[in-house]
Amino acid sequence: MSRLIVISNRVSVPNAAGAAGAQGGLAVALNSALREHRGIWFGWSGQETAEFTGHLDMQRNDGVTTATIDLEPQDIEEYYNGYANRTLWPLFHYRIDLTEYDRNFGEGYERVNERFADSVLPLIEPEDLVWVHDYHLLPLGSILRGKGVKNRMGLFLHTPWPPTRLLASLPFHERLVASMLEYDVLGFQTTEWLESFLHYVQKEMGLKVNLDNSIDYKGRRVIARAFPIGIDYAEFSEAAASSEASEAHHRLKSSVRGRKILIGVDRLDYSKGLGERFESFSRFLADHPDMAGKAVLLQIAPPSRGDVASYQQIREDLERKTGHINGAHAEVDFVPIRYVNRGYPRAQLAGFYRAAEVGLVTPLRDGMNLVAKEYVAAQDPEDPGVLILSQFAGAALQLKDALLVNPHSIEHVAETIKRAIDMPLAERKRRHARLLASIRDEDVIHWREQFVKALAGKDREGANAS
Ligand code: G6P
Repeated sequence: MSRLIVISNRVSVPNAAGAAGAQGGLAVALNSALREHRGIWFGWSGQETAEFTGHLDMQRNDGVTTATIDLEPQDIEEYYNGYANRTLWPLFHYRIDLTEYDRNFGEGYERVNERFADSVLPLIEPEDLVWVHDYHLLPLGSILRGKGVKNRMGLFLHTPWPPTRLLASLPFHERLVASMLEYDVLGFQTTEWLESFLHYVQKEMGLKVNLDNSIDYKGRRVIARAFPIGIDYAEFSEAAASSEASEAHHRLKSSVRGRKILIGVDRLDYSKGLGERFESFSRFLADHPDMAGKAVLLQIAPPSRGDVASYQQIREDLERKTGHINGAHAEVDFVPIRYVNRGYPRAQLAGFYRAAEVGLVTPLRDGMNLVAKEYVAAQDPEDPGVLILSQFAGAALQLKDALLVNPHSIEHVAETIKRAIDMPLAERKRRHARLLASIRDEDVIHWREQFVKALAGKDREGANAS
C-alpha cells in the first residue's frame, strides 16, 4: 500500500488539547483517514513566527505523523485571512458581495503555496500518493510539478465550486483553474459542484470533457469526480454510546423541563444561514401561540476567522438578533434561544443531538455539511428526531428523507419546524432508517477508499502517463 502525504492548511492532531468540538468537516474526516493509513499530514501549525524559516515540526500523535510549519504575520494576513477567507471562501459560497479582490492577497496566496511546496518536498518519496485539501492550496500541485514531483497527486475541495459566471469575476481565474489541472484527480463533494467545474473548463478554457468526466490537458489525463464525504460512523456511534454522551443528554434534557429542543451546531460563518434560522424560529413562535414557552433553540456556534471583518459583522448581527428575539419571547423563567459561542467535545455533542427533537441544518450554501449526518447518527432509532436540511447543502443530494427547505424562506422553515415537531413516530422512524442507512454505507472510510483508489489510478481503464 502506498504511503499517503496529506496536505491541508490546518493540521489538527487527534485528541490534542483544543481540537475537540471546534473542528470543521475537513479535520474530522482526516483524523480517521490518517489513523488507518501510514503517512504524513503536512500543513500550517496555526502559529505565527516573526520570520518564515521553513522549519518542520514533526510529531507522532495517536498513530498520525504530522509535519507543520509556522507562518509569518504577512503570510497569515494575505494568504489565510486574505485570499483564502476574504476572496475564495465568499466567492465559492456564492457571496460576491463579500468577495474582496486585492492584488496583495493573490501574491501572498502564491507565496505561501510556494512555501508549502518547498517545505513538503523533502518529505515526498517516489511511490507516495499526494493528497491536497481545499481552497487554500489550489495551485500547490502545479508548483510541486514545477519542482519535479512526478507522483500521483489529487485535490479534494471541501467547499462548493461556484457557477462559471461568478468565478469569472475573479481576476486571473483562468490561471488558478489551469493550475488545478496539474493534479491527476480533482474531487468535489457533489455532482452539482463537479458540473460547475466541468462547465467552466469547457466554456472558459475550451477543453473537451470525456464521457467519464476526465479532461485531457497538456498530454495528461485529469480525472474529475464527485466523492461525497461522510462521517466516521463507527467512531461517532461509539462516542454517542459513551457515558459522556449520556451525561450531556441528561444535562440538556433536564434543563429544558419537558420543552421541545431544536439544535443547530455550526462554525460561526455567514454561509450557515444562522440569522435566517433564528428568524424562522421566531416566526414559528409568533405563528403558533400555543407553542409559547414550549420550544427551545440551542445554537452552538464556535467563532471562526475572527480577524476577518465579515465574521465580526455576522457575530454582531447574531448577537443583536438573539437579544431581540429573546426579548420578545422570553418569560421570567424561560429563554427561547440559547446561543453558545464555544465548541464541545464530540461525545457531548452526540448527547445534545440525541436530546433534540429537531436538527436544524439550514446553510445558505455548504459544500457538504457533516452536522446533518452526525445529527442523524446520534438519534435513538426507536424515537428519532427529525432533520430539517437546507436544499443548498451538498448533503441534501444524499439525505432526501430529511425535510428539505429553502433557508431563505422564513415562512417555509417556520412551517417545517411545526411539521417536524408534530411528525408521528412511524414517519420519524421510517425517514430515520433510510437516512441512517446512507450515512452508514457512505461513511468517511468509503469516501477515503474511493478517493485513494482514484488517486492510485486503480480504477482507470488503461495507463496514464504521469
Ligand atoms: C471548512 C473548510 C476547512 C476548514 C474549516 C475550519 O470546513 O472547508 O478547510 O479547516 O472550515 O475553518 P478554519 O478557517 O478555522 O480552518
